[in-house]
Amino acid sequence: MSTLVEIDGLTKEYPPARRNHGPVRAVDHVGFTVDAGETLGLVGESGCGKTTVARTILHLTPPTAGRVLLDGTDTVAVLRDGSRKDALRVRRAMQYVFQDPLQALNPRWTAGDAIAEPLRVHSLLPRADWQRRVEELLDRVGMEPAHAARYPHELSGGQRQRVGIARALAVQPRFLICDEPVSSLDVSVRAQILNLLGDLQDEFGLAYLFISHDLASVRSVSHRVAVMYLGRIVEMAPADALFASPLHHYTAALLAAVPVPDPDSPQGTAVLAGEPPSATNPPPGCHFHPRCAAALPVCQTTVPPLAAAGEGRVVACHNPR
Ligand SMILES: Nc1ncnc2c1ncn2[C@@H]1O[C@H](COP(=O)(O)OP(=O)(O)OP(=O)(O)O)[C@@H](O)[C@H]1O
Ligand code: SF4
Ligand SMILES: [Mg+2]
Repeated sequence: MSTLVEIDGLTKEYPPARRNHGPVRAVDHVGFTVDAGETLGLVGESGCGKTTVARTILHLTPPTAGRVLLDGTDTVAVLRDGSRKDALRVRRAMQYVFQDPLQALNPRWTAGDAIAEPLRVHSLLPRADWQRRVEELLDRVGMEPAHAARYPHELSGGQRQRVGIARALAVQPRFLICDEPVSSLDVSVRAQILNLLGDLQDEFGLAYLFISHDLASVRSVSHRVAVMYLGRIVEMAPADALFASPLHHYTAALLAAVPVPDPDSPQGTAVLAGEPPSATNPPPGCHFHPRCAAALPVCQTTVPPLAAAGEGRVVACHNPR
C-alpha cells in the first residue's frame, strides 16, 4: 500500500484558558501516515485532542504548526493560501463523518438536500443528475430512494449516520475522518455502520482515520492504532500487537480500564489512577508521569521521544513495558 496522507509536526494551540497560564496545546507535534485503503484508529481519554487532530487536518480550524500532506501536496498551504479551485480539490479528497449526525444535518433539509449539497458546492454534476446520484448514494449506504424526502427527525440514528456517510461519499473522497461515528448509536446499529464502513473501504480503497472511545470498535476496524495522551501520540502499532501487548504504560492502563464483555468477570476492572489529565497545565516531561507506576526520575523532566520499537511499532516511553 502507498502512503496517502502524511501528518508531520501537527500542533494546535488555543489561547490560555486562564490568566497566568500558557496557551492550551491541544495537539502537540502529532505525526502519522495513513495508506490508501488503511484504517488508522485514534484513541485516548476525553479531552486528549482527538477531535482537534481531525479538525486541524481538515483545516476546519487552522493548525498552529505542522504539515498535512495528501499525495505529497501540502494541504495546509493550499487551504490557507491556495486558489478556490485547488482548495475545493483538497476538500473533496478529505471528508468528515461526524459523531452526532443529528447535529451535523440541517433540520430543515431533507436527506436528499443534504446529500446533494456537496454536488452543488463542488459543481460535480448538472442539476438534472442530482436526484439520480442521490438515489445511487442512498442505495450504496443501504437506504431506499424514498428516504431522500425524509427530514433528519424522520430518520433513526443509524439512518442519519448513513446519510452523513452518503453525503461524505458524494464527492468521491479518498480519506474519511470518522470522529466517534458510532458512539451515539445502539450496539446493534453500531455493528451495521462499522460493516458499511468496511464495505465502502473495500469498494473504493478509502483510507480512514477512525476516532473512538470504544476500544472494541477500534479494534474491529483498525489496521493500526495510535494512542494519544494530552495532545501527544504516545504509542502507535498494528492493532493486534497493540491490544495483545501494549508497550506504553498509558496504553496498558487504557486497555485495562475497559469493561470486559463477559457477565461472569468483574466489570470495569482497573481504573486509571491519579488525577485526570488537564491540557491547561500539563505536567512536564512525560505527561503521564504523575499516574505512572513505572516512572523514573527522568520521566519528570524529559519528554520521551517517539522511538521505533520493532514490528512497525513506535512508543514514547523512557521505561517501556
Ligand atoms: N475551540 C477551542 N478553544 C479552546 N480550547 C479548545 C477548543 N477546542 C478544544 N479545546 C481544548 O482542546 C483539548 C482537546 O479537545 P478535543 O475536543 O480535541 O478532545 P477529544 O479527544 O476529541 O475529546 P472527546 O473524547 O471528549 O471528544 C481540550 O482540552 C479542549 O478543552
Ligand atoms: S516515560 Fe516514564 S512516566 Fe511516561 S509512561 Fe514511560 S515510564 Fe511512565
Ligand atoms: Mg472529540
